[in-house]
Amino acid sequence: MSAPVREVTAAGPGEPVIDAVGLEKVYNEAHPDVAVHALRGVSLRVERGEALAIVGPSGSGKSTMMHILGCLDRPTRGSYRLAGQDVAHMRDDDLARVRNRSIGFVFQTFNLLARATALENVELPLTYAGATDIHERALRALERTGIADRSTHRPNELSGGQRQRVAIARAIVNEPALVLADEPTGSLDSKSGEAILRLLLALNAGGTTLVVVTHDFDVARRLPRVVRMHDGEIAADGRSDAVLGAAGGRREPAPTPAPVAPAPGPGEGPASSEREHAHKEA
Ligand SMILES: Nc1ncnc2c1ncn2[C@@H]1O[C@H](COP(=O)(O)OP(=O)(O)OP(=O)(O)O)[C@@H](O)[C@H]1O
Ligand SMILES: [Mg+2]
Repeated sequence: MSAPVREVTAAGPGEPVIDAVGLEKVYNEAHPDVAVHALRGVSLRVERGEALAIVGPSGSGKSTMMHILGCLDRPTRGSYRLAGQDVAHMRDDDLARVRNRSIGFVFQTFNLLARATALENVELPLTYAGATDIHERALRALERTGIADRSTHRPNELSGGQRQRVAIARAIVNEPALVLADEPTGSLDSKSGEAILRLLLALNAGGTTLVVVTHDFDVARRLPRVVRMHDGEIAADGRSDAVLGAAGGRREPAPTPAPVAPAPGPGEGPASSEREHAHKEA
């Protein structure tokens, strides 16, 4: 038997939801020739009920960070306390339990099961948790995200915006205290993206702690706090107007090439976010 795992909702008063110190992530550390230092000592503290955006160029470590914060992956070094619990060293099954009960994850490409209906997709986390009233609770979550009328549709019968509503319903069906969204509007047109953003902001207004990765500064500006990552480190962290104030553009600028660097050949220049995502979606 494993030790009982507290839910995030059981955190003591004043305890931050996220308390990460010195997080490092090295992919393929055992093979120095292919090792990637994706996080180089990131510390982040997020209080209960906060909403923040994470911005930064492609490859700066945003998704790596989200996967660790969402207990989908572990840091190579550093400590991570989620609502006061040390999750960096937790056993796999305990980690899975914390993840399922306490965290809702929303991905850019929805990650829905293709052969399951919208309702069945939303029921899954409840099934894993051994919950009761699965059907009713899943339907209520679909109602909250405004997509209950499509509950019997499969993902390929839904638009991108509708799929993301289903994915958000799945993320919130267990009423997690923390919702992590990695480019939730990245695959959507601006109108659907706006509706999804409003939905996430409404969740936050209801008390859910919210972390959103985005390339879109217009999205980031709508959240009170912005963390800017660069090269596996936090380059800025503060009020969104202060962090984004100098950045005039709508989207993450491509990194400025070093003046002495040789001209990149075709396809190997600094990846713009647009190109990177086009590639990912392909
Ligand atoms: N599973 C993996 N194995 C090896 N390297 C990886 C892995 N996942 C990510 N990386 C590398 O780690 C670095 C950070 O990647 P990450 O996905 O966190 O960036 P990102 O900021 O989310 O970028 P994007 O904006 O393109 O989504 C990149 O250099 C990437 O190539
Ligand atoms: Mg990413």
